[in-house]
Amino acid sequence: MDDFERLKSEIEQTIDAAQDLAALDQVRVGAIGKKGSVSALMARLGSLQGDEKRAWGAAVNRLKDEVTAALETRRATLGQAELAKKLAAERLDLTLPAAIERLGKIHPISQTIEEVIAIFGEMSFVLAEGPDIEDDFHNFTALNFPPGHPAREMHDTFYLPTKPDGSRLLLRTHTSPVQVRTMQQAKPPIRIIAPGRTYRSDSDQTHTPMFHQVEALVIDEATHMGHLRGCISAFVNAYFEQDKVPVRFRPSFFPFTEPSAEVDIGCSRKGGELKIGAGEDWLEILGCGMVHPNVLRACGIDPERYQGFAFGMGIERIAMLKYGIPDLRTFFDGDLRWLDHYGFPPLEAPSLVTGLGR
Ligand code: PHE
Repeated sequence: MDDFERLKSEIEQTIDAAQDLAALDQVRVGAIGKKGSVSALMARLGSLQGDEKRAWGAAVNRLKDEVTAALETRRATLGQAELAKKLAAERLDLTLPAAIERLGKIHPISQTIEEVIAIFGEMSFVLAEGPDIEDDFHNFTALNFPPGHPAREMHDTFYLPTKPDGSRLLLRTHTSPVQVRTMQQAKPPIRIIAPGRTYRSDSDQTHTPMFHQVEALVIDEATHMGHLRGCISAFVNAYFEQDKVPVRFRPSFFPFTEPSAEVDIGCSRKGGELKIGAGEDWLEILGCGMVHPNVLRACGIDPERYQGFAFGMGIERIAMLKYGIPDLRTFFDGDLRWLDHYGFPPLEAPSLVTGLGR
């Protein structure tokens, strides 16, 4: 029986010495495999008889069980170690920052809209939206364009096919219908900002059939033209990140405002380079005015009690001015090299606190 003990301790040593599962399997084959050392002891049963045979068989079986148990224990330990090693090798650090260059760039239109929202948000304007596909009432009639009025033709409207009842929908020619939708739904005081796409059948160097505007509307009992001027000045200074950009109001006409004005900002074109905020030249940036009583009435608001201002501004225009983008049409070419040059890093939301852009 000493032989059994010796063999057992020998096998146990090789089990402990196995450094991985493959080596351990070699040990298993060498001990309890068909031609293993333990199995060889079993072969001797044939030459034994009676009690001796029984005792030998029992001893070999015990040894086999002990070796099997030792193999199992070692297998569990090595398995754990291998799993831990594999997990360590495949570790993924989720706290590492994302590879920003692979996220692409923010289009200057999106950036400019975010900047405008940030500035008016600070002045407690809230965001409003309306549909791109409008009806005649919201785009024209409620805005005091009487049917057949020549001002409608100035808008080069895209119409959808005429419906059986004779009406036809259209692509909104400006963001002003959002004024109407807002006043139909909300009671004054109202203070909204509404950026979005607009459409006109017009295409040349300074016009694209689709472009963007941002509309502002303020309605309450006391807002007057002075507030309009202050608001626009504050916006222009914040947007161009200057202390005092010169602002000029020029009388103009829109059916939905009275009085109406176009706003110019001071600039210089010396040496062919456009500089905002300095110099003797002027550049038009938006249309505005006091909301016409007919518009208030059409939206169910009493013009005897309420009044306010509205303005509409072209997004492409102010983006070109601030970021020195020379050609309007390039905004919509979808050229990735252009976007890489004029675009903005993602994950950096414009705000007046952290800085607007570039
Ligand atoms: N909707 C006008 C345009 O597209 C701009 C505007 C908006 C003018 C609001 C006055 C008031 O030209």
